[in-house]
Amino acid sequence: MTDDLSTLKSETEAELATASDLRAWDAVRVAVLGKNGRLTALLKELGKTPAEQRRERGAALNRLKDDLTAVIEARRAALEGAALDARLAAERLDVTLPPRPAPSGSIHPISRTIEEMEAIFGAMGFAVGDGFDIETDWFNFGALNIPTHHPARADHDTFYLPGERDGGPLLLRTQTSDAQIITMLAQEPPIRIMAPGRAYRADHDATHSPMFHQCEGLVIDRDITLGHLKGCVIDFLRAFFGIATLPVRFRASYFPFTEPSMEVDIGWNRRTGELGAHGSNGGDWLEVLGSGMVHPRVLANCGVDPRVWQGFAFGMGVERLTMLKHGIPDLRPFFESDIRWLRHYGSSPLTPAVLHEGVA
Ligand code: DAH
Repeated sequence: MTDDLSTLKSETEAELATASDLRAWDAVRVAVLGKNGRLTALLKELGKTPAEQRRERGAALNRLKDDLTAVIEARRAALEGAALDARLAAERLDVTLPPRPAPSGSIHPISRTIEEMEAIFGAMGFAVGDGFDIETDWFNFGALNIPTHHPARADHDTFYLPGERDGGPLLLRTQTSDAQIITMLAQEPPIRIMAPGRAYRADHDATHSPMFHQCEGLVIDRDITLGHLKGCVIDFLRAFFGIATLPVRFRASYFPFTEPSMEVDIGWNRRTGELGAHGSNGGDWLEVLGSGMVHPRVLANCGVDPRVWQGFAFGMGVERLTMLKHGIPDLRPFFESDIRWLRHYGSSPLTPAVLHEGVA
């Protein structure tokens, strides 16, 4: 090989070695093999070479072209390989890493209890009914057989609102029992509804909040008896607390809107707070709800003929049942929106409320 060709070869090799990416590599390639490249120029000059040297020069140039093409291609392959390696390293996925936690909220225990009540009563054929937070005096008291000067009104520490409607004051309902009246006025019997919602009383301490929740129940049909009431309430309480043998006691009481009226107690252990402990280790009774056979006057107030129809009603405190079920000692944090409390007592939005939690 003549000197000029050796020089071209070694210079090209040196430039290729320093070309650190495909762009620099292509510049080297064009400078040698391109239309105006150094080797191309030498090939073009071949015609001017004296005839006796032309064959040898031509062969040398062709060999050089083959050599340079080979080293240029080899460098390209090397650069492409390196580029791929770099990309693979940069985009590497470590499939053994634990997933990032997806942030999710939790269901407030009050909402959860209401969902569970709806599931349990729903399975017994109850529809979900409704009342209003702002009521008239008549829906909250009058229609429920609580007349104007009845002592039960004083017990309720009612929040009255400015203004009046239908000749009586407006108020924040003190009980969900208005749902009984609303339902009976809106639909013909037979009726089977449960109506969860808010109620309000001017009361505030560790066990009372001025806003709280109740769930009302109402069943009206031709042949409903106290036996149906007892069966329904016992089944509900045992399913809700997930204790198939939960002791339930019915105790005669008084409510203006039911006759007879009964308060319902469940067995628990006063010392440990454990439910269902009545009997074996000196159990106590704890009141959980009010109930009774709907008073004929309440039926008549809603245009339901008490000679044809009868039924039962019940009302229970949602916070109270929730605190008992989950061992929550204080009512106040329910409405303080403390994220730590909500995380601790809240439940996963991904697990649905079930009918029977842990009933054997
Ligand atoms: N409304 C009553 C209260 O707030 C609870 C209640 C008792 C509701 C007996 C009823 C019932 O439907 O029959 O204390």
